[in-house]
Amino acid sequence: MNESNLHDVLIIGSGAAGLTAALALAGTKRVLVLAKGGLSEGATAWAQGGIAAVLEAGDTFENHVRDTMVAGAGLNDREVVEHVIAQAPASIERLRALGVPFNTESGDLHLTREGGHSHRRIVHVNDATGWAVQEALLKAAAEHPNITLLPGQSCIDLITGHHQERFSGSGRVWGAYALDEASGRVTAHIARATVLATGGAGRVYLFSTAPRGATGDGIAMAWRAGARVSNMEMMQFHPTCLYHAEVKNFLVTEAVRGEGGRLLNPRTGARFMEAHDLERLELAPRDVVARAIDAEIKRFGLDYVHLDISHQPADFVRGHFPTIHEKLLGLGIDMTRQPIPVVPAQHYTCGGVVVDLAARTDLPGLWAAGECTESGLHGANRLASNSLLECFVFGEAAASDILARWDTLEAPPAIRPWDESRVTDSDEAVVIKQNWTEIRRFMWNYVGIVRTTKRLQRAQRRIALLGQEIEDYYGAFRVTTDLIELRNLHQAAELIVRSALKRRESRGLHYTLDYPETTASAADTVLVP
Ligand code: FAD
Ligand code: SIN
Repeated sequence: MNESNLHDVLIIGSGAAGLTAALALAGTKRVLVLAKGGLSEGATAWAQGGIAAVLEAGDTFENHVRDTMVAGAGLNDREVVEHVIAQAPASIERLRALGVPFNTESGDLHLTREGGHSHRRIVHVNDATGWAVQEALLKAAAEHPNITLLPGQSCIDLITGHHQERFSGSGRVWGAYALDEASGRVTAHIARATVLATGGAGRVYLFSTAPRGATGDGIAMAWRAGARVSNMEMMQFHPTCLYHAEVKNFLVTEAVRGEGGRLLNPRTGARFMEAHDLERLELAPRDVVARAIDAEIKRFGLDYVHLDISHQPADFVRGHFPTIHEKLLGLGIDMTRQPIPVVPAQHYTCGGVVVDLAARTDLPGLWAAGECTESGLHGANRLASNSLLECFVFGEAAASDILARWDTLEAPPAIRPWDESRVTDSDEAVVIKQNWTEIRRFMWNYVGIVRTTKRLQRAQRRIALLGQEIEDYYGAFRVTTDLIELRNLHQAAELIVRSALKRRESRGLHYTLDYPETTASAADTVLVP
C-alpha cells in the first residue's frame, strides 16, 4: 500500500547542504531528511581538498572575490560572490563548534593552496575534509530530536498542485513522492516547505569523480515541476583523476599541485603547463589545466599524464596526503617516489536550479541549496573549494527564509497517493543498463572538455531518440531507483546539451571550436520549462 506522511519541512539530500539546512531549522521545526542510498553517499563525504575562507593576515575578501570571478570568467553574480565569501569564516567557526577537526599549525588553522587561489586559504582535515564534515553534521543531526533521517529513499518527483486531490494547476510544491528502496513502496512525503539538496549530475559522463548517485535528480525534478535551470553547459572537469585499470573515479586532490606537484608529459618528461599558462603553471584554474592535459594527451596520443610530487620530502607528502598516499600504495604506486598517472574527469556541476540569495527557487514552497543549484556564485567555472562553502551558506539561507516566512506558508492540502494502477513489474531491465551506458558514453565523447556544434547536435539527436524510449518504459513499469536515475540522467543530459548549443562563445568550462572567442558581455544560459 502506498501512503502519505506529513512534516513541517522536507529536505531531500543528506550532504552538506541538506544537513546544514536541517540543523538550522530543527530548533523550532520538525524536519524529515530523505537520502537515496546511505546517508553518507553524496559528494560531501568524498571532498578532499577543503573549504575556502579568508583567514590569513595578508589575504582579503576582495582577493577571494577576484579569484572567484576570474575562475568564473565573469559569469558570476558579484553580489552573490561577495555575500558567500563574507560568510565563510563564520561557516568554518560553526563547523569547528560541531567538532570538525581541521588541521592546525602553531594553534592557527592550517591553510593549503589550490589552483586559481592567489593566497593560501583552504581549511582542511588532511586530504579527507569531506568525510570529517559529513560525520560531524550527521552526528549532530542524528542527535537532534526534531530531525528524522531516512536513508534508502529515492525521490521520484516533487508534489505540486497537479497532485492535489482537488486538482490545481499551481506550481506550489508540497513535498515529494519517494520510493522506499527496500520495500518498493512509494510514499507521498507532504510538507509546508521543501528543500532540494540532491547534489550534482556528474554521472551523466562516462568518467566522473562524483559518486554513483550524482544523477541530477533534484535538477530534473525541479525542471519537471516548472523551475528554471541555468548554465547547465558549465560542467567542470577536474584535471587530476587517477588513471588506473581497476579504479575509475579516484580524485587526486588539487592540493597536491598546491603543495608543489608538477604535471609532466610521461613520454618527454616536459613540464607542459609552461606552454599553456607560464605565469600560473599547475595552479591555473581547472578549466585551463584540464584543457592543457586534454591537448597534451591528444597531441602525443597518450593515455594519461604524470602528476609528480616526489621532489618533496617523503614525510611532507605522507603528512599532507595520508589518504591518497595509502590508497595509491595499495595500487602499487608510491607517490613519495613515483609520479601518479592522471586524466581529467567530470567533477562538478556548476549549473542547476536557479535560486536567489535566500535559496528560493521559482516555485513557491521549494528552496534549493548546494550543487543542484545555480546561485550565481560559480559562474562559468567553480573556484576550487568554493562549493562546500556554498552548501553551508545557502543551506543556512534556506532555513532562515523558511523560518522568516513560516506564518505565511499555508498548511498542505489533501494529496493524491502514488498511483500504480496502470504499471507492472519490468521484465526488461536490460533497457535501463543499455540506455544509461549509451548516455554516459556519448556525453563523454560529444559533450566533453572541447566541444563542436556538430558533436552537440549528434548528442541531441541521440537524446531525443532515447527520451521516447525512456518515457515509454517509465509509463509502463513500476519505478525502481535505476529507472528513476535513468530518467533524471537523461533529463540532465538534455539540459546540458541544449544549454551548450545556446552558448555561442567559449567561456570558462564551455569551450567550443566553432565559437572560440569570448563575447564582450557575460550572460547566463537560462532555460525555462
Ligand atoms: P551531496 O553531498 O552530493 O549530497 C546529495 C544528497 O542528495 C545525498 O544524500 C543523496 O543521497 C541525495 N539524493 C540525491 N538524489 C536523491 C533522490 N532522488 N532522492 C533522495 N535523495 C537524493 N568541494 C569543495 O568545496 N572542496 C573540496 O575539497 C571538494 N572535493 C571534492 C572531491 C570529490 C571527489 C568530489 C566528487 C567533489 C568535491 N567537491 C569539493 C565538491 C563538493 O563535495 C560537492 O559540491 C558538495 O559536497 C555537494 O554537496 P550537496 O549537499 O549539494 O550534495
Ligand atoms: C580537490 O581536492 O581537488 C577538490 C577540491 C574541489 O573540488 O573544490
